[in-house]
Amino acid sequence: MNHQIHFWAVVPAAGVGKRMNADRPKQYLELGDSTVIEHTLSRLLQAGVFSAIAVAISEEDPYWPELALSKHEKIITAPGGKERADSVLSGLKSIGDKANDDDWVLVHDAARPCLTSEDILKLIDVLKNDEVGGILALSSHDTLKNVDGDKILGTLDRRHIWRALTPQMFRFGMLRAALEATAGDPRITDEASALEIQGFVPKIVEGRPDNIKITRPEDLALAQFYMEHQ
Ligand code: C5P
Repeated sequence: MNHQIHFWAVVPAAGVGKRMNADRPKQYLELGDSTVIEHTLSRLLQAGVFSAIAVAISEEDPYWPELALSKHEKIITAPGGKERADSVLSGLKSIGDKANDDDWVLVHDAARPCLTSEDILKLIDVLKNDEVGGILALSSHDTLKNVDGDKILGTLDRRHIWRALTPQMFRFGMLRAALEATAGDPRITDEASALEIQGFVPKIVEGRPDNIKITRPEDLALAQFYMEHQ
């Protein structure tokens, strides 16, 4: 490798967020003085490590062009896809003429606005010499049950169970190939799963518990609380 390795961010932001029961996609809901997605993108920009940030946006989205950040020099808009993985692949393609195969890409949900520079830099620091890459994750403090309907079938060994967060950090070429090879597979719910199915072994890096994903209405108040206390 005789060229400099660059870091890119890809932000899937083309979901509707049905569980919020809101009048607009959850990334456009108000959180303090701006919207969820503006916080998310500001935090990625603040980290100061990315050459550009590709944001995947639904073609029917009237809110995105209204945000000043949509015109930011480091932000590239890509078309969203049917599933999250399709949106991520579209984001990768939008930087395909600039990124090298061995550059790193950090994929981060638009709906996780409490991400800290500390976690971004920790993920990069731990994984930058890794062959494959990996993800921020959290261990479980609760006992976890395997359930069918309302019947408990067993208890999982929680020493081996981690919750996958984002960012998820992989090499541009390897991630793109894995997402192309697994397109349409319903088991692909994050980037790591696309690589796992291909036989690669991504790593986990323990993240901060305040890096929550806005999913239900009460999560907005929780995100606001975390932001005020970070
Ligand atoms: O719905 P969920 O919270 O799991 O979505 C995670 C992220 O993926 C969100 O930021 C959402 O906007 C994005 N997404 C997407 N394209 C889809 C579905 C979800 O970019 N088709």
